Amino acid sequence: MASREEVIIKKEEIENQKQIMQLVKNINSGYEKYAFVETYGCAQNVNDSERLLGMLDTMGYKKTLDKEKADVILYNTCAVRENAELKVFGNIGALKAIKRAKPHVVIGVCGCMMQQEYIAEKIKKRYKHVDIVFGTHSLYRFPEILYNVLNENKRIIEFKNCDGFIAEDLPIKRNSDISAGISVMYGCNNFCTYCIVPYVRGRERSREIEEVIKEATHLAKSGIKEVTLLGQNVNSYGKDLENYYDFADLIDAVSKIDGIERIRFMTSHPKDLSDKLIDTIANNKKVCKQLHLPIQCGSNKILKIMNRKYTKEEYLEKIMKVKEKIPGITLTTDIIVGFPGEDNEDFEHTLDVLKKVRYDSVFSFIYSKRPGTPAAVMDDVLSPEEKKANFDRMLEVQNVISAEINQTYDGKEYEILVEGESKTNKEFLTGRTDGGKIVNFKGEKELIGKIVKVKIIKAHTWSLSGELV
Ligand code: 5AD
Ligand code: SF4
Repeated sequence: MASREEVIIKKEEIENQKQIMQLVKNINSGYEKYAFVETYGCAQNVNDSERLLGMLDTMGYKKTLDKEKADVILYNTCAVRENAELKVFGNIGALKAIKRAKPHVVIGVCGCMMQQEYIAEKIKKRYKHVDIVFGTHSLYRFPEILYNVLNENKRIIEFKNCDGFIAEDLPIKRNSDISAGISVMYGCNNFCTYCIVPYVRGRERSREIEEVIKEATHLAKSGIKEVTLLGQNVNSYGKDLENYYDFADLIDAVSKIDGIERIRFMTSHPKDLSDKLIDTIANNKKVCKQLHLPIQCGSNKILKIMNRKYTKEEYLEKIMKVKEKIPGITLTTDIIVGFPGEDNEDFEHTLDVLKKVRYDSVFSFIYSKRPGTPAAVMDDVLSPEEKKANFDRMLEVQNVISAEINQTYDGKEYEILVEGESKTNKEFLTGRTDGGKIVNFKGEKELIGKIVKVKIIKAHTWSLSGELV
């Protein structure tokens, strides 16, 4: 296990990267330069991309959503499931034409996929038009890598096999003026047998509470109203810190910041969800009444093989406690269908959990084999067709529940944080309830960023329509 000193990137090293950013800026001065960054995967990756865009901005690259216009094209990749990886390979392949037409364009691939050596090697060998490859552990070195590529006109494939770092004070360019994610910890120590995350994101490491508060205070001053505290397993926050603060303490500290009106967080592991955290959600007015608690599967046999360290009964008991202490809380979960060894009887237990808990919504996935994880060499019981049939059945069950829960919102008034214009109809605004439900309603643009009262006039399965009160 790396020491705290080894984990935190030294101030001098960050300063060094900042100086290199200035060198790149000088190279770009006098030119209009653009950067295109595409993100795959989770909120942590979205946050990493905001850092990449922050560094690019400092180096003189404006953000563009048009690949054709870009001087730097970066794909920030996800390794959690194979279909995301296949999409990345397809998209990188398609960049060959851009590189041929405009050889000066720098093409980079980074993120979780590139933290797997065999994939970095594959890109190096088979995708010769890619100039830069680096994994999540090298993110803070991006300015240096880009500078070397620009200066020496050579490819850089960087692979760092380690437990990961914490890099503070890198520039950041946020996607929203209203709501922002803050990574409070990185990595995961749980090693669920299906999951690649511990291999690509390294060991759990928490940011110092002062650093998180500094970032949140800065965001509040810039007008941000809502923060989402991010980590693969936020309940482990603080375990590696000298001055022990747990996640509930962190939430309380963030809630004291003026201007921050809503606090959300992701993701909690059921085995570590403490009574203290449940009480914090219940009692702290700024903490949104919403909990994402991935169960993955309802069968005890499968939970054991998954190395989840809880039973169906223990999970349900925690949910009962949450519902009792926080009536009306929005509950969501993740489900994996078709894990090796899962049979139809195991799957019935998953359906049973859905019916007992009655989640507001469920993020469901068919199991995807991840090379290098223990489950990758385990045998299947169900055929792909049987897995797909179970998956569809689960959606049917859940869609009815989601629609029924949303129906109970009909006619009631809720406080909505207005996030922006609706994507489909410019006359409409879109925002969220405290519980995280999406609400669309007619309103003036001036309301964006404000908390307004909206009466729900129609409930849909995935969203609500309302009118201003
Ligand atoms: N196959 C399918 N889903 C997976 N997840 C993680 N690993 C896999 C895998 N190999 C899902 C889990 C996790 C979510 C982020 O992704 O449900 O909670
Ligand atoms: Fe993966 Fe399990 Fe860690 Fe979540 S807790 S990131 S599912 S290993």
